[in-house]
Amino acid sequence: MVPDRRPDSMARITTPALAEAFIAEQVAALQEQIGDQKVLLALSGGVDSSVVAALLIKAVGQQLTCVHVNHGLLRKGEPEQVIQVFRNEMNANLIYVDAVDRFLDKLAGVSDPETKRKIIGGEFIEVFAEEARKLDGIRFLAQGTIWPDILESEQGIKAHHNAGGLPDDMQFELVEPVKILFKDEVRMVGKALGLPDNMVYRQPFPGPGLGVRCPGAITRDRLEAVRESDAILREEFANYGLADKVWQYFTIVPDFKSTGVKDGKRAFEWFVVIRAVNTADAMTATVEPIPYDLLTRLVHRITHEVPGVNRVLYDLTPKPTGTIEWE
Ligand code: XMP
Repeated sequence: MVPDRRPDSMARITTPALAEAFIAEQVAALQEQIGDQKVLLALSGGVDSSVVAALLIKAVGQQLTCVHVNHGLLRKGEPEQVIQVFRNEMNANLIYVDAVDRFLDKLAGVSDPETKRKIIGGEFIEVFAEEARKLDGIRFLAQGTIWPDILESEQGIKAHHNAGGLPDDMQFELVEPVKILFKDEVRMVGKALGLPDNMVYRQPFPGPGLGVRCPGAITRDRLEAVRESDAILREEFANYGLADKVWQYFTIVPDFKSTGVKDGKRAFEWFVVIRAVNTADAMTATVEPIPYDLLTRLVHRITHEVPGVNRVLYDLTPKPTGTIEWE
């Protein structure tokens, strides 16, 4: 069994050899805990749930069912990558749920940030519970809880919901194979399990996804502008060697239009805001000084490749006074 708490004596997993040892120990512990029973996992494609999936696939193979809910607020290419890595390459039992219309219809016309978050979180649990009810004989629910989640919930900083806030009639035993690991250790283990680098070294991404980067009421066209501009920013940061150096970088498309000119005609369109910050703990943050030539290139690509956008702005505000996200 995995200990409930991180032992004080536990060495930090800093090398592939230590990661391999952890994996071997965990796989044996998972096999013992799960036996021939079935396990369910909500697989977002983020680092923690991906590492939990890879560990469980190694330990119990087809006894694991992964559910990937596409809520329409994921970054470009993410749902496709989850299917490619887990279903095609790791042969996982993966249920892909296209819930895009369902989420976007519920969010239509809702502009209050906290209400948007509540709708996204609540709908996620509902979709996941519906899928769980269709399956027979599930005994365990796997979760990507990590050690800082436990510490923060003990300190009252973050509410950590056991069993993911599922309805009371859905009772599962929890399987939390990375719950004594720090984030860097989870990444080390993910790398040793053969997960792709862009999954393992992924920048933090909020649960409500691109929904909080489309301030005000989300519309499909503005959401596409966020997704496309984010993909360009990520590609250009990777080409420039900044992808692993900057802590978090993304784009925002507020619900505001300004006059511009495109192909000799008046273009009344949105603007894209670029945000790129560095921080240790996300409580405070400084702004990355993006080189001017890269900024110029980003402006050109975004205004020429993203439909409905005629301007690009760079947010130079540290935290405080700005938060990292705009909502
Ligand atoms: P803020 O905007 O509060 O963000 O400066 C600090 C860090 O938290 C992330 N963030 C969220 N993560 N659900 C999440 O899972 C949320 O609702 C949420 N809001 C902000 C943000 O991306 C940054 O890394």
